[in-house]
Amino acid sequence: MTLIQPPSDQVLDRAAALLADGKLIAIPTETVYGLAANAWDRDAVAKIFAAKQRPANNPLIVHVAAVDRIAEAAMMPLAPELQHQLDCVVDFWPGPLTVVLPRASHISDWVTAGRDTVAVRIPSHPVALRLLERCPFPIAAPSANRSNYVSPTMAQHCDGPMDQPGIHQFIEMVIDGGDCDFGVESTIVALQQGGPRLLRPGGISAEMLADRFGITVEQLTQATNDRPVESETGNEVTSAMLAPGMMKEHYSPSTPLVLYSATQANSSSKRVGRIAFAQLDASDTSRYAVVETLSDSGDLREVAKGLFAALRRMDHAGLDLIVIDTCEPVGIGLAIMDRIHRAAATPLS
Ligand code: TXA
Ligand code: MG
Repeated sequence: MTLIQPPSDQVLDRAAALLADGKLIAIPTETVYGLAANAWDRDAVAKIFAAKQRPANNPLIVHVAAVDRIAEAAMMPLAPELQHQLDCVVDFWPGPLTVVLPRASHISDWVTAGRDTVAVRIPSHPVALRLLERCPFPIAAPSANRSNYVSPTMAQHCDGPMDQPGIHQFIEMVIDGGDCDFGVESTIVALQQGGPRLLRPGGISAEMLADRFGITVEQLTQATNDRPVESETGNEVTSAMLAPGMMKEHYSPSTPLVLYSATQANSSSKRVGRIAFAQLDASDTSRYAVVETLSDSGDLREVAKGLFAALRRMDHAGLDLIVIDTCEPVGIGLAIMDRIHRAAATPLS
């Protein structure tokens, strides 16, 4: 059993010591819980891949405490074009933004999956920041779930052998920082010659980023060869598979999931659950064995925050099918629909 701990100073001192000693711990961030290791410790980072059963070709995000510590992961100084792009977005930090930059040579190949770039972010969760400030090294942390399962947004999600066969035995400690505010993973943007590219939508919207860069959302979101390697199956990942709409299944519950708009009639012989983004009326509610309402008013920030926990609960409710609402892929809605399409293994349009 791993130990769930409150984020006292003593616990954070102990957590920093565990990381320094090459151990893995689960930490809260404002997006999802992360499975943390010393990013400079090759063996510790390798343990992340074993714990998550993550293929070695899927690189990790490196977390640092402050902008002046980016050089612990990325090659600084940056080329002027990249430095300009970074300047455009730097005040989203601390926060749910990850930038992909040329890597520093002292970051191990395990972290970057052998690429010449590294993904870096400064999280805003106060517990993550207090821990980072205690560590003389950056922290590599993917989401603290088994590969291809739903990301954890509560401390308890990091400790469930049912949800995460294999993962909990690698985790020395889970620091409980409460429920994650955003509930979907950080926005990832590659800073590169020729213009920045959105690799993963998240809490910082594509519209906000495009505005800062002075480009259109279409320019920001156009295909790039440096898309995140989202296939966690370990099979060959070609650039064709990484094109929009071609990414592999990800974030999937075990129970089949379908989008509400794609469902005309429900078979009465099945136990069906519904994840609703806003209050349903009574006649609608009565058609389902279980209903989870993510927001009374349909507020998409609340939907994002509750989405993964609802998917996990539904997945353990003995259902034959989960039906989930959809929203416009705008603002945080783009991140919500990205995760839902992956969970339902339907192509992104
Ligand atoms: O919100 C988050 O970003 C959370 C918290 C814990 O910080 N972390 C997270 O990590 O979502 P993970 O491993 O679940 O997702 C990292 C994504 C993967 O899709 C990976 O392929 C991509 O980042 N990535 C990492 N390094 C990259 C690089 N050098 N180039 C392109 N994509 C990269
Ligand atoms: Mg993940």
